[in-house]
Amino acid sequence: MAKILVVTEKPFAADAVASIKKVILDAGFEFALLEKYTDKGDFLKAVADADAVIIRSDIVDGEVMDAGKKLKIVVRAGAGVDNVDLGAATARNIVVMNTPGQNSNAVAELALGMMIYQVRAFFSGKSGSELKGKKLGILGYGYIGKRLAEIAKGLGMLVYAYDPFVSKETVEKDGVTYMETQQEIYRTCSTVSLHFPSNDKTKGSVTYELLASMPKPAVVVNTARKELIDEAAMLKMFAERSDFVYLSDVEPGCKEEIASKFPGKYFFTPKKMGAQTAEANNNAGIAAASQIVDFLKTGNKTYQVNK
Ligand code: 3PG
Repeated sequence: MAKILVVTEKPFAADAVASIKKVILDAGFEFALLEKYTDKGDFLKAVADADAVIIRSDIVDGEVMDAGKKLKIVVRAGAGVDNVDLGAATARNIVVMNTPGQNSNAVAELALGMMIYQVRAFFSGKSGSELKGKKLGILGYGYIGKRLAEIAKGLGMLVYAYDPFVSKETVEKDGVTYMETQQEIYRTCSTVSLHFPSNDKTKGSVTYELLASMPKPAVVVNTARKELIDEAAMLKMFAERSDFVYLSDVEPGCKEEIASKFPGKYFFTPKKMGAQTAEANNNAGIAAASQIVDFLKTGNKTYQVNK
């Protein structure tokens, strides 16, 4: 009987775990769970006899794959696969999938929630401002970007989007203004929200030139990955522009410096929590389990990302 292992340093909600387990047991497979581990060695031990693994932001590198002698498939319950060594998986004939769209509403709501928190003076009681009528630039018009546009439009924001992989037609159908370049987004919008993956091409792609071109007050919202921002550029921007604010779902490397020098100009979640809702956990977890069951039974590779 094939064994499906769920490995989550940051656990799913208990109900989601129960639902994942049910999908796996109902399909006639064995279920195993490793949560809140602090030592990679625990992952290496647990994966030894697993045929399939479900992960979140857990690192799956060549060492993990070599420890999983029977490993055939890794499914990232979520969107970003920057935590999986895709080349190493392909070299070992291991299929890697994600579960696109399953946690997108949770992330979009957090992005919007952080924007409200900031414009209302971090709920301090001081006078703030409103999002209605403000220009929001969305970089990356995938499931999350699209959902954020929908919510922001509901609040009366003027929404602009740039995505090199999405057509003007698709964006405009949603009542969102399409922009040809990311430069145009930064030049036009005083709030910019990042919704593109972290890879060799995008790491550090939020540069000083782009940030410095933003109208005042400049607010960058990052619920994607901290590596997207050139942190030296961001520190320069903080130093030069007292209007600059950075809101991020996960602390940047230069957190201490920002906290000591630029109080009141930032908000960072202590742990990545964009997808940390009961609904998102359930959706992504069940999708991951179902994709594995389907793959093991029929060979379906629809959501494979390492082709
Ligand atoms: C994703 O890529 O799906 C999100 O960043 C969520 O990551 P998490 O599952 O580690 O919360």
